Amino acid sequence: VAVRANKYADELLETAQNMTKPGKGILAMDESNPTCGGRLEALGIENTEENRRRYRELLITTKGLGEYVGGAILFEETLYQSCKDGTTFVDALRAQGIYPGIKVDKGLRPLANSNGESWCQGLDGLAERAAEYYKQGARFCKWRTVVSIPAGPSKMAVTDAAYGLARYAAICQNAGLVPIVEPEILLDGDHDIDRNFEVASMVWAETFKYLADNGVMFDRMLLKPSMVAPGADCPKKSNAKEVAAYTLKMLNDRVPPSTAGIMFLSGGLSELDSTMYLNAMNQQPNPWHVSFSYARALQNTVLKTYATGPEDPAVIAKAQEILLTRARENSEAQRGVFDV
Ligand code: 13P
Repeated sequence: VAVRANKYADELLETAQNMTKPGKGILAMDESNPTCGGRLEALGIENTEENRRRYRELLITTKGLGEYVGGAILFEETLYQSCKDGTTFVDALRAQGIYPGIKVDKGLRPLANSNGESWCQGLDGLAERAAEYYKQGARFCKWRTVVSIPAGPSKMAVTDAAYGLARYAAICQNAGLVPIVEPEILLDGDHDIDRNFEVASMVWAETFKYLADNGVMFDRMLLKPSMVAPGADCPKKSNAKEVAAYTLKMLNDRVPPSTAGIMFLSGGLSELDSTMYLNAMNQQPNPWHVSFSYARALQNTVLKTYATGPEDPAVIAKAQEILLTRARENSEAQRGVFDV
């Protein structure tokens, strides 16, 4: 019924399928102005609109990126920016076969009467904003909420996160945007991998219940989960095989095979771990397109390199080469053929 009622149904399916072709992942470059600017400032580059634009132009104009990346998630500011030569960022991405996407949530706020947990705002006016973003060229979108293990998670926080994600996904599918559903389970804490598994299973059960209640079409949405790993301060570390086994078990138990794509976040894992864990998952049979939607694990070294000479064309070329290598390595991991 939902498919018949949605005038964008065919386009949503086409977008989702094109973004999840073998070897394709997503470049997350939707850091908010304070986050993007904070990362630039930490490396000695002033947080101005022009400096954010220049750094993002570097990412978008990396030649060959479209071979490994089917979508780039942008922050609202970036959806309206252009390259120095006047080409809009949207057209520059399209020319590489990369779908422009947009972060549509309005960020986290303290959840009243909780133990320091958060909720994610942005549903008010979302239908109108989504229609504007579609007009501007966006074809997919993201909503990130977080669940903290050390702070709870309380039933109230999990229900609120799941319900918000489902409402958002329904609204955006009706505006022609393929939604990325992202309840990030933060790595912060000293909990072990079993505790993460337990919480992730609870969060995804709740999220799929509300997605179904809201008539969201699973074959026209993407998930953005955290990998199931021990907390960052857990004394017992896991290897790639263990993370892959726990994460695949959680997905098998909770995620319908019709889901168009599972695009993991990197969540503070190192660049190498993010690639190795993804590769290990794709060495097992699974019914989905299991891939990446990394920000830090694609950009960390790129940004550090860029900061050594933001005015120097040779430095920019070097930074782009690093981005292309990181994208290729993760594309290999998507196909389960990455070799260190
Ligand atoms: P990280 O890969 O840096 O976790 O970022 C992904 C993302 O978009 C978080 O919302």
